Amino acid sequence: MPRTDWKEVVAPNERESFDLLASQLRDVQREKAKAHGSTSRALHAKPHVGLKAELTVRDGLPDWAKVGIFSTPGTFKAWLRLSNGGAMHQSDKAPDVRGIALKVTGVPGKKLIPGMEDAPTQDFLAILTQTMPFKTPEAFVGVVRAANGPKLLALPRILGTLGFSAFGILGQLQKGMAVKHASLVDNTFYSVLPIRWGTTAVKYSLLPVKVPPLNGPVSEDSRFADDATARVKAAPLTWTLRVQPYEDEATTPIEDPTVQWNTPWTELGDVTVPVQDPSSDSGKKLTALVDTFSFDPWHAPEEFRPLGAMMRARSHAYRDSTIERKAAKEPGPDAW
Ligand code: HEM
Repeated sequence: MPRTDWKEVVAPNERESFDLLASQLRDVQREKAKAHGSTSRALHAKPHVGLKAELTVRDGLPDWAKVGIFSTPGTFKAWLRLSNGGAMHQSDKAPDVRGIALKVTGVPGKKLIPGMEDAPTQDFLAILTQTMPFKTPEAFVGVVRAANGPKLLALPRILGTLGFSAFGILGQLQKGMAVKHASLVDNTFYSVLPIRWGTTAVKYSLLPVKVPPLNGPVSEDSRFADDATARVKAAPLTWTLRVQPYEDEATTPIEDPTVQWNTPWTELGDVTVPVQDPSSDSGKKLTALVDTFSFDPWHAPEEFRPLGAMMRARSHAYRDSTIERKAAKEPGPDAW
């Protein structure tokens, strides 16, 4: 049984500072809207593909993992969005964070976001690294703002926000973003940050299995869309959904995303993307529809609540970004 004595540290007045950070990201979003339109996200703005998917919960899970939709084996309809992390819709050749977002629908129970308690969805968001170089949301947003402001002011602004730790942070950030991935569908994605899983706390990950071979041309600018499209036209894509538990504050800290957790993974389910053609008219419509959705780790029931200051800051940022771009309301299984 994984430990249940994890703790969050909630700073006094953090809501005000998270509101400010969210409004700063929204300002970046407004600025980029001049080039990319008012429906563009504050981050992860460029979609590669939006796909229909399914989450199948496996039989025989350990008792501690039987929580919410993972309580009994079953299959849920879902959507998946692959994206680049930046605020710009830039070429896939440019170094960037790459993201995957999964929205599972048909999820019963009360959800966390005020005003959306009856939403039928639960989301999982992940990127290609296991950690992030930022210890605080202020550092994260400071670098995003500097990177999206005037080029000449970028370094002084970053130094102003982070002090001398800036050089280490920027080095790690660059290292993570500069990795050249040929494909996103044969890669492992990580939540980086923890969530509750019933009484314990976990990080989750999507591990690719059964990746069909690439059979088609890819352009460098839209490499990830072309690659995913060619593969999923030929055969289904599958990822295993797995979680690793909290152990103790030293080795699996809740509040420090720079520390990699090394506790063992437990496989809980499978995410399958059935054969489909994202390059067809209906496939393009699907990508456009999925782009209107709001993927957010806070679309979840209380027993899967996101944990830690970085997660709580995300709650403010995703809300502002989705309001700004007038995201669609949470879709039910009928929309699949
Ligand atoms: C390190 C952990 C994080 C991961 C794994 C992550 C992952 C993602 C992913 C995959 C998306 C794209 C969702 C989609 O396809 O619609 C996204 C969007 C976004 N992220 Fe994060 N993110 C992280 C941290 C943060 C932090 C710390 C902030 C800000 C405080 C942030 C702000 C945003 C915003 C504003 C969006 C756009 C929301 C929208 O309009 O839908 N993220 N993130």
